[in-house]
Amino acid sequence: MRKKKKWLVGMLVIVNVFLLFGCGKRQETREDKVHIGVTYYNQSDTFLNELLAQFKEQLKNPEHEELEATVTILDAAGSQRTQDDQVKELIDMGCDVLCVNLVDRADPSEIIDLARDHDVPIIFFNREPVEEDLRQWDELYYVGAEAKQSGVMQGELAAEVIQKNTQIDKNRDGKIQYVVLEGEAGHQDSIIRTGNAVDTIKNSGIELEKLSYQIANWNRVQAQNRMEQLISQYQNKIELVLANNDDMALGAIDAYKKANYTESAWPVFFGIDGTDAGLRALADSELSGTVYNDKEGQAKAMAKMVEAIGTDEEIAEKYVYLPYIKVTSENIGEFLEK
Ligand code: BGC
Ligand code: CA
Repeated sequence: MRKKKKWLVGMLVIVNVFLLFGCGKRQETREDKVHIGVTYYNQSDTFLNELLAQFKEQLKNPEHEELEATVTILDAAGSQRTQDDQVKELIDMGCDVLCVNLVDRADPSEIIDLARDHDVPIIFFNREPVEEDLRQWDELYYVGAEAKQSGVMQGELAAEVIQKNTQIDKNRDGKIQYVVLEGEAGHQDSIIRTGNAVDTIKNSGIELEKLSYQIANWNRVQAQNRMEQLISQYQNKIELVLANNDDMALGAIDAYKKANYTESAWPVFFGIDGTDAGLRALADSELSGTVYNDKEGQAKAMAKMVEAIGTDEEIAEKYVYLPYIKVTSENIGEFLEK
């Protein structure tokens, strides 16, 4: 016992001496390594793949230059059970911090318990847990964006285009016949985006007539299938397509192309995200507008939190929400450069 204490004191002295005289060399000797474990709900998701590519990019150039970050990314393939197991695996691998994009955002309890038991902080991202769950432990964080804002912005974009262009009301009945393509049922970005987009258009004085709401789970192919059914049901009656994300707007456009409609007979399409393909469709005037889901900002915020955890700094905010930005043919240049 005594011996051990002496040894400890000796160590402390050495450390102090080192701190006094070794300041300049601190970078080389300090072990600033952080291993990050990421699991996300599905590798087929376009937006998340682009967001994670940005995150990896950010980690290559950390603000703390001496920090060396390694990252392991796992695909939960749509199963919460798989994701729970992956969290176990990542903790066993020795990850210092986890970034979790929940499969079921209402069911993070097992993951939270595991992380807390092993003292590994979690940054949830994009799929927001309910507040009560995030309060379960003080090392839980969230990075994302406010669903309501994206819905309002999509509605504003659509209202502006409809007001400027009387041709959109193809049957000239003074109303805009519309359909909505929605993301997953339980996702914070689905119902909230739809509701706010529709309300915003109505509040601008435009009369809307709802034809159909279809769930297509954020997915381009599913959206194309839904849209093919809608086209055969409503033929040329559809004047506006509001999609909860760009991939589904693109799927709807695919359906019109496949049905051999000429572009002048298409409805107008609006998306959200500003993915690479979404921006291209906007540049080609196939998409009439989108709302930028700031993946660079979100990736940066996540990287910053990871760095703070890796260097034992305090994290100021538990929640970080990056603002959305409206993208039209006028300002698209700024986004294509990103
Ligand atoms: C994005 C979608 C994405 C979803 C995944 C949303 O915020 O807009 O494109 O599929 O997150 O959780
Ligand atoms: Ca009409």
